Amino acid sequence: MSKTPSLLNGENGIELASLEWLSLHHRVKAPERQQILKRFDIREGDRVLDLGCGPGFWVEMLADIVGKSGAVVGADFDEGLIHHAAKTIALSRPDHDIAFKCISFEEVGDMLGTFDVIFFSNCFCYVPDPQELLRRLAVLVRPGGRVIGRNWDGGVFILNPIPEVTLARMQHLLAEVFDTDRAGPYFDNYFGRKLPGTFRRHGFKKVTGETQVIERWGPADADLSAYIKANGAWWEETVSHKLTPTERDEWRRYFDERDERYVCRSEDFYFCMLEAAVTGYV
Ligand SMILES: C[S@@+](CC[C@H](N)C(=O)[O-])C[C@H]1O[C@@H](n2cnc3c(N)ncnc32)[C@H](O)[C@@H]1O
Repeated sequence: MSKTPSLLNGENGIELASLEWLSLHHRVKAPERQQILKRFDIREGDRVLDLGCGPGFWVEMLADIVGKSGAVVGADFDEGLIHHAAKTIALSRPDHDIAFKCISFEEVGDMLGTFDVIFFSNCFCYVPDPQELLRRLAVLVRPGGRVIGRNWDGGVFILNPIPEVTLARMQHLLAEVFDTDRAGPYFDNYFGRKLPGTFRRHGFKKVTGETQVIERWGPADADLSAYIKANGAWWEETVSHKLTPTERDEWRRYFDERDERYVCRSEDFYFCMLEAAVTGYV
């Protein structure tokens, strides 16, 4: 099947990687992102590689942790995102050692230098051979250093008050599309659950991890409403060829602010999803 290019896609056709989407996504989840970074025990003076850095929001937060004595390199193959990151994030911390490089995951082994930490957030889902990538990354980490992988898992997506049967049907269709007939670059919407096994199989000295529950109660503010609506549109677009017109019309009503079924204004609004983080020590 061929898929209509989505407004949420990045420059290289990468799912959910446009500047607009990543910026909105970051604003909505910034509290949990700040929280999880504190638990990674990244220290002042550390040298960190943020691979798949996108617009560089994690680079900014990492730079604040490692301080002026540390260094952060952001790398991504999306030229537009790297350009944006260099223009905004690097300039916002002129006294910090921040650099951005436009390279692909496949080229990362050619980078010079070693890192205390390699951070890889919401990117394993685009990697067809995670073990091969981990082998490349392990070479860039100093002995005793670590690789931190984070990824959402699309298997949990609670959005109340959409009826359970409607949500479950959409979940089923989405899983079916990703399992059987999706076109475009590799994408695993369910990688979060595979992080622990992937890290254990690589043979890191120690593997630790935790999963964050991202939950929001209503009323949804402007950013959260925009995020929820974008998710609804992405689900619809991804499974559109499997939906009946009635199902499509019903689904749209939950994301249309003019409709009485609009979820973001509901007293019963509740949103919940999961993001897993795993650390492997070299
Ligand atoms: C969902 S975004 C995550 C951005 C950021 N790490 C975060 O957590 O918000 C995935 C990023 O991976 C980048 N990416 C995907 N495949 C890549 C590849 N093969 N080489 C380099 N970057 C890649 C995309 O351009 C995008 O910026």
